[in-house]
Amino acid sequence: MQIPSSIITLLIGMLLVLGGMWVGQNINLLPVDASVNAPIYDELFQVLFTIGTVLFVGIVGLLVFSLIRFRRRSDQIGDGIAIEGNLPLEIFWTAVPAVVVLFVGLYSYDIYDRMGGMVPLAHDHMDGAHEERVWGGISSGSVQAGEIGNALPIDVTAMQFAFLFHYPDGDIISGELHVPAGRPITLRMEAKDVIHAFWVPEFRLKQDVIPGQPTQLSFTPTRPGRYPIVCAELCGPYHGGMRSTVVVEEQDAWDAWFSSNAKTDAANT
Ligand code: CUA
Repeated sequence: MQIPSSIITLLIGMLLVLGGMWVGQNINLLPVDASVNAPIYDELFQVLFTIGTVLFVGIVGLLVFSLIRFRRRSDQIGDGIAIEGNLPLEIFWTAVPAVVVLFVGLYSYDIYDRMGGMVPLAHDHMDGAHEERVWGGISSGSVQAGEIGNALPIDVTAMQFAFLFHYPDGDIISGELHVPAGRPITLRMEAKDVIHAFWVPEFRLKQDVIPGQPTQLSFTPTRPGRYPIVCAELCGPYHGGMRSTVVVEEQDAWDAWFSSNAKTDAANT
C-alpha cells in the first residue's frame, strides 16, 4: 500500500515544527540571565530559534534529499524536464516568509517596548531637541514602570579604551561597575572621543555611548555575580580589549562597598 505524498508532507511538516519547538525550548545558547528584562528577551530568542531551526532543517533537509533522490544516474544523458513555473507553489513560498517576517517584526517591537526601549525615544520627542534629558521619568507601562523613582543614578564615561563609572551620590569613581541586586539602575552615558557601546550579555542590554549626546540605559540586575562589560562598537585599535566588569552584589555587600569608597562619608567622619 502506498501512502499518499500529501500525508507524508504533512507528517514531515508536523515533525519539523515539533522538533523546532523542542529545540527552542530546550537548547539554550545564551549566558545566564541577570536582569529583569533578560527573560523577556529570552522569550523572543526562543521563538526566533524555533523558527530558525524549522527553516534550516526544512530547507537543508529538502536540499540534501533532492541532491540524492534526483541525481543524474549513469545511464541518463538527455536534458532534464522543462518546468516553466508553478503559480500555487510560488504564492505559497512568498506568503509564508511574508507572514513569518511580519510576525517576527511585530513581536520584536512588542518585546522591545516591554523592555522599556521606547521610553527614551518618547522622552526625546516630548522634551524637544537638545535639552538635557530627564533621566528616568515617564515610563509607559513597561517593566520598569514605578521602579524608576528610586533608581540609582550612575554616570558612565567611555573613552579609548575604557569605561569609567562615577557615582554622584558618594562621589565614587570606579573602573568596575558595582550594583546592588534588585535595585533599578539608571546609567547616564557619554563618550569622550568616539562612539562606543556598552554591552552586558548577561543583562541582554546594549546601548551606544556617543560623544556630545548623552544616552541612558535603565535596568534592574537580579542575579549576584561578576559579568563582563564589553564595548560593542568598533572604536579603534584596542576596541577588542575595551572591557570591564559589572559586579552585582546583594544589598549588604553593595552597601559595604559603597560606604568604604564614598568620599562624602570619609569627609564626614
Ligand atoms: Cu570602545 Cu569599542
